Amino acid sequence: MKTSPYFEFQSKVRIFAGSNSLEKIGEDMELRGVSRPMILSSRTVARSGLLGFIEKGYRPGMETGVTDTDIPADSDLETVRRLAALYTEKGCDCLIAVGGGSVIDTAKGVNIAVSLGCRGYDITPYAGAGMVKEKLKPLTVVPTTSGSGSEATIVAVIADTAQSKKLLFTSPYLLPDTAVLDPRVTLSLPPLLTAQTGMDALTHACEAFFCLARNPVSDAFALEAIRTIVRYLPTAVAEPSDEEARLQMAIASNLAGTAFSNSMVGMVHTLGHTVGAIAHVPHGACMAVLLPYAMEYNARKAGERIGALLTVLENEKAFLSTPKEKRPQAAANAVRRLNEKLKTLTQGAHAVCFKEYRNKNGEMPVTRDLLPRIANEAVNDGSIFYNPEELSRSDALRVLEAAYEGVSLN
Ligand SMILES: [Fe+2]
Repeated sequence: MKTSPYFEFQSKVRIFAGSNSLEKIGEDMELRGVSRPMILSSRTVARSGLLGFIEKGYRPGMETGVTDTDIPADSDLETVRRLAALYTEKGCDCLIAVGGGSVIDTAKGVNIAVSLGCRGYDITPYAGAGMVKEKLKPLTVVPTTSGSGSEATIVAVIADTAQSKKLLFTSPYLLPDTAVLDPRVTLSLPPLLTAQTGMDALTHACEAFFCLARNPVSDAFALEAIRTIVRYLPTAVAEPSDEEARLQMAIASNLAGTAFSNSMVGMVHTLGHTVGAIAHVPHGACMAVLLPYAMEYNARKAGERIGALLTVLENEKAFLSTPKEKRPQAAANAVRRLNEKLKTLTQGAHAVCFKEYRNKNGEMPVTRDLLPRIANEAVNDGSIFYNPEELSRSDALRVLEAAYEGVSLN
């Protein structure tokens, strides 16, 4: 008798989800026996007054040790060193990160530096998989975008600018202790960014579901994430002040983060990382364009899994009324329709193919002549490891060319 493959699953993150969750952080700090946090955030968040809600929930004797909002768009070793020294100087005993991926990853880096007694706060010896082997200081994360899922992952990416490379840190000890999903912090996220980050979350859930490291527990997280994103992302884009849609997107992003932290991602990230690095296209924008192509490309090896996504991308009726062999294409088409809807809701700003993408200056950063270089470099990205289908340079180029033009692979 064939048995199911062995798998592991972990998530120890305490979640506060709902309005007024920021005020709950004080209660959580009391439980963890800490009282003097370092708060890392962005200037925009600090200006909005949101950090005040955290302090409103402090218990007697609690006080913010230091608030720092000077964090670059890409977290780097130098910033980690500077903040770790500041943490020690101000006598802090825990960390609160209120921000996007860079702020969260910076907090994870600072936590390694201050918890493990790194000489000169240099965390490079801990880069790689499983190098952090002990419990760190309590870390609370308040994500201000609903996409990266960093508040639910064991990963931190920190740039070594001197060496021009990005260091990847993975360890179960990098999972935050607490994630705070408060709709007030995403209300001011502009529609285009909401669409792009939401499609990143959708990609995490879809890839976690159809890539090779999937397991039944992460499947449950992924399916619920997809169901929620399909239902609430268009509303969050069309009605930025809709608190319910914002909260549901924060929850979905967290579910998708937990799914992919356990089941990994695949070729959408493989190609997307490289398009992002070479052409400077935001991560979520790359995910939105590439996801339907990965579903078509992987249909031969993972057709049943991709076809099963139709139940959540559309509904049970669409799944049952579509012949089995046509379900993967129907699922890819459902993602394309969602992209088209987001494009309409953002007055054409959300790109459904690379030739449509324009940056803030109105330039077109992905040009046809860049595609061979992107294909060449993409095949070295580690995220291809769990993709169902192999991806050669010529395959990568074929997918990129189709995604550039916006035409189906089939
Ligand atoms: Fe992603």
